[in-house]
Amino acid sequence: MIVKSAEFICSNTQISKLPLPLKPEYAFIGRSNVGKSSLINMLTEKKGLAKTSQTPGKTQLINHFLINDTWYIVDLPGYGYAKISKSKKEDWNKFIRSYLDKRESLQTVFVLIDSRLEPQKIDVEFCNWLGEKGLSFVLAFTKADKQSAVKTDQNIAKFRKALLASFEEVPPFFITSSENHIGRDEILGFISQVNQN
Ligand code: GTP
Ligand code: MG
Repeated sequence: MIVKSAEFICSNTQISKLPLPLKPEYAFIGRSNVGKSSLINMLTEKKGLAKTSQTPGKTQLINHFLINDTWYIVDLPGYGYAKISKSKKEDWNKFIRSYLDKRESLQTVFVLIDSRLEPQKIDVEFCNWLGEKGLSFVLAFTKADKQSAVKTDQNIAKFRKALLASFEEVPPFFITSSENHIGRDEILGFISQVNQN
């Protein structure tokens, strides 16, 4: 797929104010700082489209970006960020989960996992929740440029094994690096196939 246009549409804290669910939508979620916003910028080849930061907790709203006038990428706030209050964390959690659970136009959730880490409980639990809700999701292992391919493959194998405790089949996965554009063609190819169905 060629990305001809990518434009910021809106940021929201209220589900009632989201764009009408008339176009296929793909949400990017994962722990704070895992690289969601960077991946969106890499896919669209627009550096400043989604705001990125070295400080976790940068994205705090549901952000809609319209691609090629036909489908949306949604940048979500990260989960598991330690430095915010418990009540704020719970508010976000409720808000994001209700968005994911209720959004009719949501096609696939991209769960971003830091490829440098051993399986993290919070990521496995989040995948389990998506599974319980019957939501379709894929995995994107981020920051693959930061270590050897062997290490990345080992961590992916461990994560897939962790999921097999609750899933019969593990979802498709992508290896990505926003630094050097790894995984771009594969992810855009996947989205374009889903859009055609
Ligand atoms: P929140 O919005 O805070 O939840 O974070 P996020 O998941 O959107 O992460 P963001 O894209 O802002 O990136 C966090 C940091 O990781 C930034 O300093 C990025 O430059 C860096 N980063 C993201 N992706 C990659 C990558 O593929 N490779 C490398 N080397 N660094 C990356
Ligand atoms: Mg972000």
